[in-house]
Amino acid sequence: MSLDNLVNFPRVELLGAPTPLEHLSRLSDYLGRDILIKRDDVTPVALGGNKLRKLEFLAADALRNGADVLVTAGAIQSNHVRQTAAVAAKFGLKCVALLENPTGTTSMNYLHNGNRLLLELMDTEVVAVEALHDPDAQMEEQVTLLEAQGFRPYSIPVGGSSALGALGYVECAREIAHQCEGVPDIAAVVVASGSAGTHAGLAVGLEQLMPDTELVGVTVSRTVADQLPKVERLRQQVAQSLALNSRAAITLWDDYFAPRYGEPNEAGMEAIKLLARLEGIFLDPVYTGKAMAGLIDGIAQNRFRREGPIVFVHTGGSPALFAYHQ
Ligand SMILES: Cc1ncc(COP(=O)(O)O)c(C=O)c1O
Repeated sequence: MSLDNLVNFPRVELLGAPTPLEHLSRLSDYLGRDILIKRDDVTPVALGGNKLRKLEFLAADALRNGADVLVTAGAIQSNHVRQTAAVAAKFGLKCVALLENPTGTTSMNYLHNGNRLLLELMDTEVVAVEALHDPDAQMEEQVTLLEAQGFRPYSIPVGGSSALGALGYVECAREIAHQCEGVPDIAAVVVASGSAGTHAGLAVGLEQLMPDTELVGVTVSRTVADQLPKVERLRQQVAQSLALNSRAAITLWDDYFAPRYGEPNEAGMEAIKLLARLEGIFLDPVYTGKAMAGLIDGIAQNRFRREGPIVFVHTGGSPALFAYHQ
């Protein structure tokens, strides 16, 4: 079996080239383990991040359907919404975003700086909601309103995590496998697991191409019991759409997201400072800082199945650093 069926899905070109895979020599010395980083934080649109890979497929579908508005949803500081708004701008579409304040903070930086500031610059139409209790239904309401005004809206789910969007991370798995060809025996790939499309796409791709490498999803919002069915369901949908089987066990670590989604913790903030100080690389307080805290603790606690280099997938998010500054 192979990933050949990926070519059957139309996509718009947003990345242009593979993102770099770099060896972090100072962090590796510090941790006593070889760490590589997949730089999806530097994808080339609107300050980068993982959603652009998903949007290559989702925007192609929207354009094929004649859409003139992208509708999506997320937290006020959503990186996904920022990248979706940028892709809308690039293709001359309007963008409507439903935004919630998941922690109820009144911090001015959270409410106005970081990703939210960038939405302002892009003229995104923001609909503030109390909570995204049923985001698909809430987006559908917007779609109905927009259709009544004569628009042709296209909904993109929270995080771009449909089976179609997750194909972007099957493609990323292909890049990682290719870039790791010269590196002996990668033990593990570590990634933040939120709306699950990134994790599910990598799971399908890596099972095909690097079956001996452990994929660890570090949860950012849910316990394993709540996250596992989400990753499983999406992984099966992705595999099916590519006419593949995917049966490898899904590994999730849920020890690093406390106190809750969108609220920084000490280990995550330490990880952010460590990467900045040793490597000049910026993680973020909501996703990648917590995922890196998991990687660091996983090494200290011997949680990885075997010895060998570890690849950290940097999914972006650094604009939120400005929003979380106190
Ligand atoms: C910076 C960053 N990392 C990781 C994720 C999680 O990816 P996914 O939602 O596909 O699980 C997100 C999602 O918003 C993100 O913005």
